[in-house]
Amino acid sequence: MNYTPFMSVFDVDPPIIDNKHLIKWLKINFSFLRNKLLKIKQLDSERDINFIIFINNKKKYVLKISNPSEKINILKYQDRLINYLRSDLSLKSFIPKIHHTKIVKYLDKKNRECFVRILSYIEGRMYGDTKSNDKIENSLGKLLGKVSTKLKAFNDIDAHRNFIWDPSNIKWIKKEINIFTGSKKLILLKCFSEYEKFVKNNLNKLRYSITHSDPNNYNIVIKENNVCGLLDYGDSIYSPTINDLAICLSYALMNNDNIYLTLKNIITEYNKQFSINEDEINSLISLCKSRLMITVVMAKKQRIKYPSNQYLSISEKDAWSLLEKLDKIPINFLIYIVREICGFDIIHHHNEIINYINKFNFGNIFKFNLLDKNKSILKLSSDSPLLKGNPDNSSLKKRVNKIFKEDNSRIGIGLYNEKRKVYKGPNFISELNTNERRNIHLGIDIFIDQGTDLFAPIDGKIIILKNNNFKYDYGPTLVLEHSFKKYKFYTLYGHLSKIMFQKLKIGKKIKKGEWIGKIGNSNENGKWLPHLHFQIILDLLGHDKNFPGVGEEFLFNIWNKISPDPNLILRIPKSFYSNNNNFKDTLKKRRKNISDNLSISYKKPLHMLEAKDQYFFDRYGRRYLDCVNNISHVGHSNSYVHEAMTQQNLKLNTNTRYLYDTINDYSELLLSKFPKKLNKIFFVCTGSEANDLAYRIAQTYTSAKDVFVMDNAYHGHTNALIDLSPYKFNSKGGSGKKDYVHVLDMPDPLRGKWRYQNSNWIQKYIDEAKTVIRNKIKETKIACFFTESILGCGGQVILPKNYLKEIFSEIRRNNALCIVDEVQTGFGRVGRHFWSFEEHDVVPDIVTLGKPMGNGHPIAAVITTEKIASTFNNGMEYFNSFGGNPVSCAIGKAVLETIDNNKLQKNALLVGNYFLKELKKIQLKYKKYISEVRGRGLFLGIDIIQNSNVSKPNKKLAKLLINYMRNQGILLSTDGPYDNVIKIKPPLVFTKLNVDQVCKNLETFFKKL
Ligand SMILES: Cc1ncc(COP(=O)(O)O)c(C=O)c1O
Repeated sequence: MNYTPFMSVFDVDPPIIDNKHLIKWLKINFSFLRNKLLKIKQLDSERDINFIIFINNKKKYVLKISNPSEKINILKYQDRLINYLRSDLSLKSFIPKIHHTKIVKYLDKKNRECFVRILSYIEGRMYGDTKSNDKIENSLGKLLGKVSTKLKAFNDIDAHRNFIWDPSNIKWIKKEINIFTGSKKLILLKCFSEYEKFVKNNLNKLRYSITHSDPNNYNIVIKENNVCGLLDYGDSIYSPTINDLAICLSYALMNNDNIYLTLKNIITEYNKQFSINEDEINSLISLCKSRLMITVVMAKKQRIKYPSNQYLSISEKDAWSLLEKLDKIPINFLIYIVREICGFDIIHHHNEIINYINKFNFGNIFKFNLLDKNKSILKLSSDSPLLKGNPDNSSLKKRVNKIFKEDNSRIGIGLYNEKRKVYKGPNFISELNTNERRNIHLGIDIFIDQGTDLFAPIDGKIIILKNNNFKYDYGPTLVLEHSFKKYKFYTLYGHLSKIMFQKLKIGKKIKKGEWIGKIGNSNENGKWLPHLHFQIILDLLGHDKNFPGVGEEFLFNIWNKISPDPNLILRIPKSFYSNNNNFKDTLKKRRKNISDNLSISYKKPLHMLEAKDQYFFDRYGRRYLDCVNNISHVGHSNSYVHEAMTQQNLKLNTNTRYLYDTINDYSELLLSKFPKKLNKIFFVCTGSEANDLAYRIAQTYTSAKDVFVMDNAYHGHTNALIDLSPYKFNSKGGSGKKDYVHVLDMPDPLRGKWRYQNSNWIQKYIDEAKTVIRNKIKETKIACFFTESILGCGGQVILPKNYLKEIFSEIRRNNALCIVDEVQTGFGRVGRHFWSFEEHDVVPDIVTLGKPMGNGHPIAAVITTEKIASTFNNGMEYFNSFGGNPVSCAIGKAVLETIDNNKLQKNALLVGNYFLKELKKIQLKYKKYISEVRGRGLFLGIDIIQNSNVSKPNKKLAKLLINYMRNQGILLSTDGPYDNVIKIKPPLVFTKLNVDQVCKNLETFFKKL
């Protein structure tokens, strides 16, 4: 259709009326007005002329005399529309009633034919003359939503026409923009390009229906804080349904300090009645702006044509100020607001991008990994003692340095989502609610020395490179664009040094790890203490020079989607941010409540906040490589094990007096790891309990008490086990060996009776042990022999070939039992075998398990033969409140499954062999300090000596070493009778890279000696 916008009713003058004549005419033509005292009062109108009819001085009717050019079919259509809407009981009262039975003609003063209609008068105030509030806006949204819903089922041929005020059809406006100049023209051009993007190209996706098309402030009647009437159906056309909401908003947002609230109030209720879809949301804001464009363009044209008609420019000024205000708010931001209001994900593909970021292996932003350094939290919230003055003043620096000193750190972290008062000036007033400010920090600040180099954490392209040189702004700013699949996201680096302008260019592609700048000084970085403002951005919102680093608190939901927590990339553990306890208090409380004979490792104790896989994180957000915790066997905080625990805990937890499946499932899996002969399990809770029970079983089975143990062994902390542990009873505080305990010499080829240099040293130990056993048997009956296959507390001493085999047969010859303590070494740690005894080609009578069995959950077990178990079943019930409960069994099973599924035994073998190989290289280089490295899989030891003298174990150096390594972020411990053996027994998820890290630091340590 050839569309000529400026024609018809807009070109023909409104009717010219003689009021007296009109009154007479009315009385003649409308029987219900006959013989009444009539008065009329003209109303504002654009192209028709309208009156209120008063009967006996009371407002009664609205008289509408149409423009002489108005066509009767359009007016009849309006009557059909009104009657249709009034057929809905919930709408009836809002729509004026038609009082004319027929549309009649009236001749105006110029003898032009005009059509006359009479409608009921709806009592109330015009919305445009009312101070708006939540209730009014809610009821307005609700009414419009109801109208949109009702109109879905209505169609009328006469509604299908082009109409100048239709914001979805403003192609004509493009050439009209040229009548404007300066900033106004720029605003209109931008609005028009938004129209092309968000409306024109989207039109075929929108739902169409008949619309009111002019729910402006003077067509809406308010009574007692509620909308009570929707007037004037003269503009009604067939158009995108969402037009009505857009048009309504274009008026409701005028002269409004709280745009956000009005959007929320109206759209929420509209959406409840008429669910807006995503395409409609995309168009809504642009339609609203397009309607404002029509207003200002029409006003300018009509003002020239009808200078006396005030109504024509009634909204012009307000429309301009709203257009100017909206121009400052990125349209995408407004779309996000509407998406949030309507319950859609705020940013499409947000989750895809976040998942990608979450999984990506980012490079370091600095030369080092931020995780490997102590960090201090620097609070810049309004209540922070740090901020007593301006952020650049020297006392702030002093206060920061004091914190750094306390935390032994040189890096400060300024928080994301922190409410700050430092952002002063009009730039920070919210456009969406002028009573609010943008004061919530959207990045993370990393306070660090000026001049520190920065590197790209991921490939990217320079998209913003700008000196935003205003006080408290970013100063030199860099934004990198990162792409994957069809998505993009950005990282922002603010407060940099100007030096980057010499080296970088917009559009330059940057590789992960490439230099991207330096930390700026206070003179160039916007007057701040030197730091990096680091921010992630999912939508640049059209910015090409700068990007807000702070957002409104009331819009944080949206800001959070646009600029999610940069910790997604930095990955400092969450507990670092939430920790409120200071180090001294934590240590003091521990000492107050817990006995001092529970030792704390290291000269500088570690206050751990969380751990994951093979890493710990302490209160300073520093990462430590865990080479010690064999309990966290499949990795700290393993989610598979955790899930098994919580699922079972929510289902059933009881004791072994009931039948339940988890104990059966787990037992079968666990026993499948043992030689067939070992087929009965007693579940307990700790290694000590397991050994204690094993000893009791042996005593019952043999009716004997005497026991052989290895020298330096530790088997647990119960009364009975302290007596079986030379490691304890022979040490400080110990009360010496009991008569029934017999100690076999540790076959230690370094410092024992026979050493590597002695020929047949192994056989000599074996023979001696056999003699000791034989001699003892002559005196007394023996219950059992307790041993580990690798002597942990003995200093990671591997029992030599044939040792166990021969000793076992000697013990068994005397009907005593052989008990192997696998508490430290079991569950695949030794790599080649699942249990360390397997290397020795023996099958023990009893095996005890603990530590790694529950990955930190207290579960342990005694495994034995059917015969031994049935002898133990002598009438006395064995009951254990917790041992073998369903939750423990679910956990134990999950641990076994994780070992199998993740091939952790194989990893222990490969990584362990590599570790041993690398350690041997170090040992060869530093023979002066290392006599031997030994072990199996990930159960290793380094024997530290003095000056190449093997017989001089060097405890002092070993302690120095583990404290040095602790300071390098690597956790090790010492053990052995001389406490000179560095013990290595990390979670089995340990990697070759971890090995390299340990070895590199060990080398540095020895090099420095
Ligand atoms: C070899 C050995 N057996 C038994 C135990 C005792 O286990 P728990 O501490 O679980 O009682 C330990 C503990 O260190 C151990 O190393």
